Amino acid sequence: MKVYDDMEIIFDHVTMKFGDHAAVKNFSATLNTHGVVGLIGPNAAGKSTLIRMLTTQTKPTDGDILLNGTSVVKHPDSLRGILGYLPQQIPYYPELTV
Ligand SMILES: Nc1ncnc2c1ncn2[C@@H]1O[C@H](COP(=O)(O)OP(=O)(O)OP(=O)(O)O)[C@@H](O)[C@H]1O
Ligand SMILES: [Mg+2]
Repeated sequence: MKVYDDMEIIFDHVTMKFGDHAAVKNFSATLNTHGVVGLIGPNAAGKSTLIRMLTTQTKPTDGDILLNGTSVVKHPDSLRGILGYLPQQIPYYPELTV
């Protein structure tokens, strides 16, 4: 597993379309280590869709997401080994008990 001291995440013209509807349209941003990032927007702005693409659960229909220069779209395992992710709705096996 690769552990990074410094991380750079680049959203490079990321688009996610569902049919004709673009949930995320041509989104670009660069994020760096040593900070907390808030992703804020109204309902249906595309926040969850963007995070699902970053966390490699879905692939963008266009554009790329780079972690320290490596495409997590093409190489999802490059991110999965170092990712901690707690989603809004948590899928779990209902038969599991605390
Ligand atoms: N799997 C899907 N199939 C079709 N449309 C989708 C799908 N997922 C999201 N959408 C649409 O994409 C748009 C963005 O949805 P998304 O859930 O990313 O927004 P959000 O910013 O997370 O909203 P909220 O604040 O309500 O959580 C919405 O119009 C939504 O209906
Ligand atoms: Mg959401």
